Amino acid sequence: MSALFETDRDIYEAIQAEIRRQATQLELIASENFVSRAVLEAMGSVMTNKYAEGLPAKRYYGGCEFVDVAESLARERACQLFGAQHANVQPHSGAQANMAAYFAFLNPGDKILGMNLSHGGHLTHGSPVNFSGRFFNVVPYGVREEDGHIAYEALRELAQRERPRMIIAGASAYPRIIDFEVMAEIAREVEAIFLVDMAHIAGLVATDVHPSPIPHADVVTTTTHKTLRGPRGGMILCPEIHGKAIDKTVFPGMQGGPLMHVIAAKAVALKEAMTPEFRTYARQIVANAQALAERLVEHGFELVSGGTDNHLLLVDLRRRDITGKDAEAALERAGITVNKNTVPGETRSPFVTSGLRIGTPAVTTRGLAEPEMRQIGDWIAEVLAAPSDESVTRRVRTEVAELCAAFPLYEELVAMA
Ligand SMILES: Cc1ncc(COP(=O)(O)O)c(C=O)c1O
Repeated sequence: MSALFETDRDIYEAIQAEIRRQATQLELIASENFVSRAVLEAMGSVMTNKYAEGLPAKRYYGGCEFVDVAESLARERACQLFGAQHANVQPHSGAQANMAAYFAFLNPGDKILGMNLSHGGHLTHGSPVNFSGRFFNVVPYGVREEDGHIAYEALRELAQRERPRMIIAGASAYPRIIDFEVMAEIAREVEAIFLVDMAHIAGLVATDVHPSPIPHADVVTTTTHKTLRGPRGGMILCPEIHGKAIDKTVFPGMQGGPLMHVIAAKAVALKEAMTPEFRTYARQIVANAQALAERLVEHGFELVSGGTDNHLLLVDLRRRDITGKDAEAALERAGITVNKNTVPGETRSPFVTSGLRIGTPAVTTRGLAEPEMRQIGDWIAEVLAAPSDESVTRRVRTEVAELCAAFPLYEELVAMA
């Protein structure tokens, strides 16, 4: 009998239901993934009990010798995996990694250039509803209307006109390779700090499937839970000369005690990401996204930029008779989890939208490959052609469940549910 079952039946049952949901649905949210049992074990460990303000061997608390082992390994592995000189693995999330990195270089009121949210940027890159938009003077850049690629030349002109203190590269919904070299050049021309937020593509960068920002950026932030397939959390990488400033803004600048159980799990995920199997995995994520993109195009869907170079694709529904919100709901009823997303030139609200963001990191972890991607493309087309037809939804839901059963997930955990 589990301790949790004994103590709190409500939470036990919610967790069991979540295990079943993850195992029996197709997870196509681009920012999600399934961690290994080893990562789960480290996260669920007694390291959660330990206060460890400070850094390894320089703590404000006693008893840190074993959490120091975990944090030192996480830092070393992060540097080795990404070829960085300095790593801070303490940010609790991607948003906090960004906050710390901004405050290491900027003062309130400084001008920053970040990618427009409706063109694929993230809230923390300058949205008015986020701290970044409230503390800084934000000038957004975006993608070219004609082909959905970042408008590098327009960005150069904007940077020369605005003379920002920082240029932020990185995105949450951009399906193409980002040219960090060109963006770094633009930043240098206007003497701006160049920050890359590689949260979405960190697993692809770690395996050379996407060019690395490390040689070009003054500072690189990331989450650890997306393509990198680690625990929920953040991380900052930078050249040695900025290391002290970054460390100081994370703690005591912004956070208190680091989450040592999560840092231990980050170390495990970073070790996993160094394996040949992870390289194969990262390549398959992209192959899967491209196979799905091709199939959707064959079914007549329009994709922002026409396709994908990475782990995600953006379906443009503007010329279809369905909103992003309704498409998301119809697919969810059929067991396919995606998220509605704004598209460049969006006219609907962010709660409705005219697009869908679809990503392959989680289904690839499960072992799905190109044939299954083509099948998923067929299901998406069928459901979106008849979103309120219950018989279609029911049939696809059954077929999705059969596919999921053929590619089991967390088998031992499911067996306990
Ligand atoms: C590019 C980018 N940066 C930062 C974040 C924020 O990460 P978190 O949700 O861990 O705060 C996200 C999350 O989606 C993201 O896509």
